[in-house]
Amino acid sequence: MNLPRHVRLVEVGPRDGLQNEAKPVPVDVKVELIDRLTAAGHAAVESGSFVSPKWVPQMASTDAVMARIKRKPGVSYPVLVPNKQGMNAAIEAGCEEVAVFTAASEAFCRKNTNCSIDESFERFAPVIEAAQKHGMRVRGYISTVIACPYSGEVAPATVADLSERLFRMGCYEVSLGDTIGVGTPAKCVAMVDAVAERVPREKLAAHFHDTYGQSLANILAVMERGITVFDTAVAGLGGCPYAKGASGNVGTEDVIYMLDGLGIAHGVDLEAIAETGRFICAALGREPASKVAQALKAKCAA
Ligand code: HMG
Ligand code: MG
Repeated sequence: MNLPRHVRLVEVGPRDGLQNEAKPVPVDVKVELIDRLTAAGHAAVESGSFVSPKWVPQMASTDAVMARIKRKPGVSYPVLVPNKQGMNAAIEAGCEEVAVFTAASEAFCRKNTNCSIDESFERFAPVIEAAQKHGMRVRGYISTVIACPYSGEVAPATVADLSERLFRMGCYEVSLGDTIGVGTPAKCVAMVDAVAERVPREKLAAHFHDTYGQSLANILAVMERGITVFDTAVAGLGGCPYAKGASGNVGTEDVIYMLDGLGIAHGVDLEAIAETGRFICAALGREPASKVAQALKAKCAA
C-alpha cells in the first residue's frame, strides 16, 4: 500500500456532530467538549457555525461558545459562515478561521442555503474579502460530492469545477463531503482523481459520513491516492439537518484506531478521545456510533 507517514485530522464533532441535535446542548457542554478535544491532541476543531438560527437552532450559541473555550496556541477553531452576516459574527467573536460551504448539486444547495450554487459563490466573495482584510484563513466545503439526496448521482467533473473555483477564490483547503455517506471506494477515488487534476491533492480533505458503513474503506482508498486530511467526529456524532437519513461523520476513534494500526502519525490520543466521546454521549443520552468507541466502552466496563 502506498500510504503517507502522517495525516491531519479535522475534528468536526462540535459543529457537524451537534448541529442536528433536536434538544439544545448547553454552552457549558459544548465548551467542555471542545476543550477536551484539543487536550486530546486535535490541532483543528470546528467549533460552530454562524448561520441562521431559524435554519439550524443548535448552532445559535456559537458566539457564547467561542467566547469561553480555552484557545490553545497552534490550534485552529474554524466556524462555518454562509454569508457576510455570518462572517461579521465570526469577526466579532474573534475567530481566526472560517469555512464557507456550497454543494455539488443545485437541489441540495437550495435546501441547505436557500440559493443556487452560483449564488452561494456570490455570497462567499465578501466573506473572502473580509477574511483577507482580517488575516483569517478560509476553508471551503463542497457537499454531496458523490450523490445528492434529492437529485441523485453527482459527476466527478462537477466536483472538480467547484473545487477549483473555491481554491482559486482563496480557500486554503477544499473539503469534499459525501454528505449522505453513499460513496464506495472506487467512486471516491474517481471523484478525488478528477478533483486532483484541478487542485493539488495536498490542498484537499475528505469528509465522509458513515451512513452505509463505508467511510473507513473510503478513507483508506483516497489516502492511497494522496489525500492526507480527514474530517472526523468524536463518537461518530452528526448529520446534516438538510440530508434526512444521513448518519454521522466517520468516528474519530475509528479513524485513529485504523491509523494507529497502519503506523500513520496523527497526533491525537485514542484513550483521551474515547473518554471525550463518553462524555458527550452521556450528555446527549445516547451510545456512541463509533465501533471503536463501543469496543473500548465495553472493555472499560468489563
Ligand atoms: P435565508 O433565509 O435565505 O437568508 O437563509 P436571508 O439572507 O434571506 O435572511 C433571512 C433571515 O436570516 C434574516 O433574519 C437574516 O438576518 C438571517 P430576519 O430578518 O428574518 O430575522 N440571517 C442570518 N442570521 C444569522 N446568521 C447568518 C444569517 N444570514 C441571514 N449568517 C442562510 C440563507 C444561508 C442564512 C440559511 O439558509 C442558513 O443559515 N443555512 C445554513 C444551513 C446549515 O448550516 N447547514 C448545515 C451546514 S452544511 C453541512 O453540514 C455539510 C458539511 O458538513 C459537509 C458535508 O457533510 O457535506 C459542511
Ligand atoms: Mg458533514
